[in-house]
Amino acid sequence: MSILSRSQQQVREHYAQVALSAGQGQCAERGCGDALSLACLQPGETVLDLGCGCGSEVLQAAGQVGSRGFVFGLDMTLEMLSLARRRAREQQVDNIKFLVGMIEDIPLADASVDVVISNCVINLCDDKPAALAEALRVLKPGGRMEMADIVAIKPQLSPPLLTRAAAIIGCSNGVLLADDYFNLLIKLGFYQPHIEPYRTFSFAYIKRKAVVRNRENHLAGLDAVVFDEALAAAHISGRKP
Ligand SMILES: C[S@@+](CC[C@H](N)C(=O)[O-])C[C@H]1O[C@@H](n2cnc3c(N)ncnc32)[C@H](O)[C@@H]1O
Repeated sequence: MSILSRSQQQVREHYAQVALSAGQGQCAERGCGDALSLACLQPGETVLDLGCGCGSEVLQAAGQVGSRGFVFGLDMTLEMLSLARRRAREQQVDNIKFLVGMIEDIPLADASVDVVISNCVINLCDDKPAALAEALRVLKPGGRMEMADIVAIKPQLSPPLLTRAAAIIGCSNGVLLADDYFNLLIKLGFYQPHIEPYRTFSFAYIKRKAVVRNRENHLAGLDAVVFDEALAAAHISGRKP
């Protein structure tokens, strides 16, 4: 794996702690959406889960694609992957493989998967265009990407304040504006891209989260009106032509 940037190291250390404090067979922190049910997986498909964490979606997907299908889970945090591998052994699931690596540099061949899923991870990536370009590269022609991610839905928010607000709700490493996300998918070559915010975050929720997560210092400078409903969990999809 390539040398990690400072922000990647912080994300990795955070999720290593999450994995180490997770109870037997469960992860302490889950993603923001349900990419898996959107993906409508079919028997025999090959699937890749970007930022698979402790493997919950990979294990479920393995059941959906069946013995003729295969599921890869990719994550940069070894502690998460060892939890995922242990769960796979315990559940005796063998049509899966967990890969250590970066989403920005996926260790799979071009056009090798039918479906890319990801649950609230692209916002954690340093280089979001590279991550999405890699997702497109590994998809087979006609393949589909179905993800959940955090996006900004109010324009002209200050990027540092936006990052701080997003960090309160989910350890974010920079959030894209929904329109910019859409334009990026078009520019990269995704066919029929779609961005659908399905849950907005009120400022009251952000404040509550800051207290629960001991991150009240992140609230400094966040205007209650400006940051009310400024962030959303969204479904993001697109196809490879
Ligand atoms: C919010 S958790 C999501 C886990 C899982 N998808 C779920 O919903 O339970 C984020 C995961 O993404 C991984 N991750 C974050 N940035 C990554 C990157 N650039 N490359 C690979 N993995 C990354 C973290 O190690 C962590 O396990």
